[in-house]
Amino acid sequence: MHTGSGLILGIESSCDETAAAVVRGGTQVLANVVASQIALHANYGGVVPELASREHLRNIVPVVRAAMAQAQLSFPDLDAIAVTEGPGLAGALLVGITYAKALALGLDKPLIAVNHLEGHIHAVLMEAHQKELAMQMPLLALVVSGGHTHLYLAEEEDGTWRYRNVGRTVDDAAGEAFDKVAKLLGLGYPGGPWMDALAKHGNPKAVEFRFQEIKRRDKSESQRTQSPGANTEQGDAARSFDFSFSGIKTAVLRYVQTHAMQERVEARRAALTAALRVNPALKVAEAMQLLPSVFDQQTLDLIASFQYSVVGNLMRQTFAAAEAFGARGIVVSGGVAANSELRLRLTGEANRCGLPVAFPTLAMSTDNAAMIAAAAWPKYRAGNLAGDSLVATPQLRLG
Ligand code: KG4
Ligand code: ZN
Repeated sequence: MHTGSGLILGIESSCDETAAAVVRGGTQVLANVVASQIALHANYGGVVPELASREHLRNIVPVVRAAMAQAQLSFPDLDAIAVTEGPGLAGALLVGITYAKALALGLDKPLIAVNHLEGHIHAVLMEAHQKELAMQMPLLALVVSGGHTHLYLAEEEDGTWRYRNVGRTVDDAAGEAFDKVAKLLGLGYPGGPWMDALAKHGNPKAVEFRFQEIKRRDKSESQRTQSPGANTEQGDAARSFDFSFSGIKTAVLRYVQTHAMQERVEARRAALTAALRVNPALKVAEAMQLLPSVFDQQTLDLIASFQYSVVGNLMRQTFAAAEAFGARGIVVSGGVAANSELRLRLTGEANRCGLPVAFPTLAMSTDNAAMIAAAAWPKYRAGNLAGDSLVATPQLRLG
């Protein structure tokens, strides 16, 4: 098909960010606008689906307009519209999809459906490309966010990307575990950034958390996810690359209960809630200065130990899968890719193994629409377009 100058408008509304971006040729970001609902959902300690849909409805038109203005383009200049099909919240996805369908129809432009998880992977690939970092196939992608913890073997062949899901969480996502533990310790929302900043002040070896080995999925599934070149002797036939994070969350709760920390948690929650009401943008470092007494050493040690253990588990599964499937590079994406300890330790281990590793910048690690437009580019070139029948697919899988 005629691919024009490759100007794609991406639209993302799967969870709590309404986002629009214009990307040229899958790599050049001309505009990237994100309207975050974090402050709204913070009052409830988690994303409220009905509120999310309402906010997307309110934001979608101004956000798209802002992206077009930032790119200094008008709608007829675009070559295609790309939108997140799933996974995500049904009502939230529906807002982006309905808008994108109407826009594509009105402008008579092609519409491209993108899997949100594929978007996260392409956020990193796009930035690796911008930095001229060569990534060899196959790649092992760790997608780790508030809703997902997945390992994919990703490969491009003749312009088409293929993914095999070789590992996934059997219960909570890693980001969800960060958020739940932060909540049970009386910290702010979302908890990941709080935990990351506070962990720097604690002893990561103070409390030992063990991860139980996860049973391998049934045989048919492990065969389905098996790479043709996989080293079955050492790898996928012998062990699982799945994750489980609900156990460690319960272990933290038990630790708090058995070490009589509950009263301190409540005092911390009350003090932080009051401080955040005065200044909703309160940074962790400022909170520590303002309220030194609520961040006791035992809590900081517990946070550091939790993070050390979760990062260790993410790394073990990632490197074991990389070895088993003969991956030639690692990409990490999703909100938890922002975690400073994960970045540091995973990069160190990848360097030791001689594997190139790519992380997204902070802006590209959380939900955005540039990643949707970037993932749409190879589909657009291959003529892989969405039809009128495109619907929101909350449980959409990749690979
Ligand atoms: O990708 P994302 O923006 O949304 C989802 O699709 O879930 O990820 C948000 C998640 C939240 O759970 C948040 O706590 C976590 O990413 N997160 C972090 C950090 N920054 C964000 N977790 C650990 N350390 C961080 N620095
Ligand atoms: Zn996401």
